[in-house]
Amino acid sequence: MRGLIGVDIGGSGIKAGVVDSRRGVLVGERVRVPTPQPATPDAVVAATAELVASLGPTQGPVGIGVPGPIVRGRVLMMANMDTSWVGQPAAKLFGDAIGRPVTVLNDADAAAVAEMRFGAGRGVKGTVLVLTLGTGIGSALFVDGVLVPNLELGHIEIRGKDAERRASAGARERHGLSFKEWAPVLDEYLDRIDQLIWPDLIILGGGVSKRSEKFVPLLSVRPPVVAAALRNEAGIVGAAVRARMLESAARPPRVTSATRATPARRRTPAGSAP
Ligand code: BGC
Repeated sequence: MRGLIGVDIGGSGIKAGVVDSRRGVLVGERVRVPTPQPATPDAVVAATAELVASLGPTQGPVGIGVPGPIVRGRVLMMANMDTSWVGQPAAKLFGDAIGRPVTVLNDADAAAVAEMRFGAGRGVKGTVLVLTLGTGIGSALFVDGVLVPNLELGHIEIRGKDAERRASAGARERHGLSFKEWAPVLDEYLDRIDQLIWPDLIILGGGVSKRSEKFVPLLSVRPPVVAAALRNEAGIVGAAVRARMLESAARPPRVTSATRATPARRRTPAGSAP
């Protein structure tokens, strides 16, 4: 079967599925395994390859979202898995283990690609900031629908602390805050980001977005804030969609009768004209 596969790797779970990239949904079940601890490259790559194999004998592009900035397939920083990921050629490691080429990208970029195509950001122009509130805070910026990759706005410093340690959904749980207590902390973070980026719209994703009615109305930050429309599967769908886009971009254009070049006219040697 030719199936487009998306994988979403997080600090606590690795999730995967076969994706219908036209409709932005999973075809069949989402599969999940806990992220091995410690989450070293060897352990995570092996668990991911096994998970992908469990989806059946598929061929076609594989997209993998990883919780760190990825430049030319390499991980440049890691906050929520083992720090031995830093410097690793993730695309090569996953590709070798899975047995076919893969596209590796930041997990928040992946989820946001799906959200912009199929969810709350669909058709929205201007500057759109998508934040994923989970264990950490992921961030992705779109300008007129074009992704600016690898934004790491979860790591700006607020009151001497990494912002995601204060304002993420994980921090809310760790500190035992109610939504009412968490909202001003999140608001302060969003305000700081607003003053750096001045977006037209902020979309809040991550698991907590399904309870958005409990905190979004309490926010007073300047730009409009809406909850993501896609839930758990955004990261899987977006990774697969991105892999398909890059595969199509790399493929040589098909020559059709419309694009086929007109054969060059034979030049007749001077003086031998009929
Ligand atoms: C990482 C980001 C990631 C986010 C959400 C942050 O700690 O630095 O790259 O997107 O967590 O997983």
